Amino acid sequence: MNILVTGGAGFIGSNLLLQLVPAHPEHRFVNLDKLGYAANLASLEPIAAAPNHHFVRCDLADRAAVDAAFAEHRPDAVIHLAAESHVDRSIADPGSFIHSNVVGTFHLLEAARAAWSGGQHVFLHVSTDEVFGSLGADGFFREDTRYDPSSPYSASKAASDHLVRAYHRTFALPVKITNCSNNYGPRQFPEKLIPLMIARALEREPLPVYGQGANVRDWLYVEDHCDAIWQVFQRGRIGETYLVGGRNELTNLEVVRRLCHLVAEETGAPVGELSALIRFVADRPGHDLRYAIDPARLERELGWRPRETFDSGLRKTVRWYLDNRAWVEGIKTGAYRQWIDQNYGARVGT
Ligand code: NAD
Ligand code: TYD
Repeated sequence: MNILVTGGAGFIGSNLLLQLVPAHPEHRFVNLDKLGYAANLASLEPIAAAPNHHFVRCDLADRAAVDAAFAEHRPDAVIHLAAESHVDRSIADPGSFIHSNVVGTFHLLEAARAAWSGGQHVFLHVSTDEVFGSLGADGFFREDTRYDPSSPYSASKAASDHLVRAYHRTFALPVKITNCSNNYGPRQFPEKLIPLMIARALEREPLPVYGQGANVRDWLYVEDHCDAIWQVFQRGRIGETYLVGGRNELTNLEVVRRLCHLVAEETGAPVGELSALIRFVADRPGHDLRYAIDPARLERELGWRPRETFDSGLRKTVRWYLDNRAWVEGIKTGAYRQWIDQNYGARVGT
């Protein structure tokens, strides 16, 4: 089978391809990515020369380029991960999220609709639990939870989910959707909470916690998400949505404190020195209080279970960043520093 994986040079996409390419020589994986700021070809080095991995640079916002990629590679199936993915950047610049996440998904759906008639096809759209907005102190997101996105990022992902579902109902496109909670693990761009805090703790830079650090996220190790994607791709029902989550809720402050302990343990630094770097800074506008997933459908129908605990996954993650300092240093370009100054410079400590 020819499987088109979009966003395959990003965090989740590269981890997914590093699992699938060696394990499935019977499939050809076409990795389509525009190589935006969060993409990193260094993440793909272990599979760069694999005969069943083929990289294509393409921007999904460019309709003609998407059609040309479809015509050349004739995918039987799509796993769609490409997106602008960082909430704070969507607050600073919503437009790029509309182009990539909404228009880009539309172009991909149109290309699949034009190319596929009959036969065995799957269009798996990878999305986020943020489309459901914020939970209060209790309750869980389920597959039938009402959409209520708060940020330009989550609104753009919600729009793309709606388009995907509409293409199933209207044109019988064989779609599946997954909505996953917060991922962490190796190869994540150090703008998201966990890799940002690891990178900054290693440099003894202040650790900026938004508000009081009381917001809750449901963390899942990236390889467990990749397992879920592959199981839904292979065995999930057409037209259905599957929620993916680790039953692993923590406040942001708890996550940052655990990271300080782990970095201290792994490097021999005094934990007090790292914890003293924590700073409470101005909150994110529209900051969702709590996300929590009930993954019962995925567990019941497909037998999926996460393999990592938060302790084991977080330790692996810290070790990966320690063992791959060159990967992080390669990212710390002028553009990265500019983003850090822009996002954190204006946040006065509280
Ligand atoms: P990422 O930002 O690390 O990677 C996204 C990749 O998509 C990058 O390589 C980028 O170059 C590419 N891309 C962006 N716009 C593109 C375009 N117009 N054309 C082609 N390529 C483009 O993000 P990630 O964390 O790997 O997330 C992947 C997907 O999973 C996203 O759709 C995201 O919404 C979803 N998701 C992420 C999380 C998470 O916690 N990271 C959780 C649930 C769902
Ligand atoms: P993030 O990793 O950006 O993921 P998302 O916003 O998609 O959940 O943020 C995770 C949580 O951490 C979120 O509640 C915001 C918070 N946060 C901070 O407190 N400080 C930071 O510097 C960042 C990037 C995030």
